[in-house]
Amino acid sequence: MGRVYVYRRAHFSASHRLFDPQLSDEKNFEIFGGCSNPNGHGHNYYIELCIAGEPDPKTGYVIDLKKVKNILRVQFLDKVDHKNLNVDVDFMKGINPTTENIAIAAWRQIAPSINEGKLYSVRIYETEKNFVEYRGE
Ligand code: NI
Repeated sequence: MGRVYVYRRAHFSASHRLFDPQLSDEKNFEIFGGCSNPNGHGHNYYIELCIAGEPDPKTGYVIDLKKVKNILRVQFLDKVDHKNLNVDVDFMKGINPTTENIAIAAWRQIAPSINEGKLYSVRIYETEKNFVEYRGE
């Protein structure tokens, strides 16, 4: 038996504004560009979880993906989908909602519920071309 990496991907839509409240709108635009638009804007995000472990000898599963689907929905998707990440999401309060910070927050929301195998990585895709990965390190 060896280590296997199991993936689950899901979509969510959310709005955000990237900014440092200490800086002017002009300075924020310099740093964050269009993502600093004062009234926010939306993204069609994807989240991808990877769970690593050895398949159970009886079931052949590292973890039942139905369980992963539910954990992802309850711990993360229900809280962020169609929400404003700056104001609507308790676990994002006071955090600048960059893709990096969303990945770290998602990890913290999800990792404690993964009891078979181990959460190995969380990827957040902000666009098709821009995505980040966090491994809990
Ligand atoms: Ni943005």
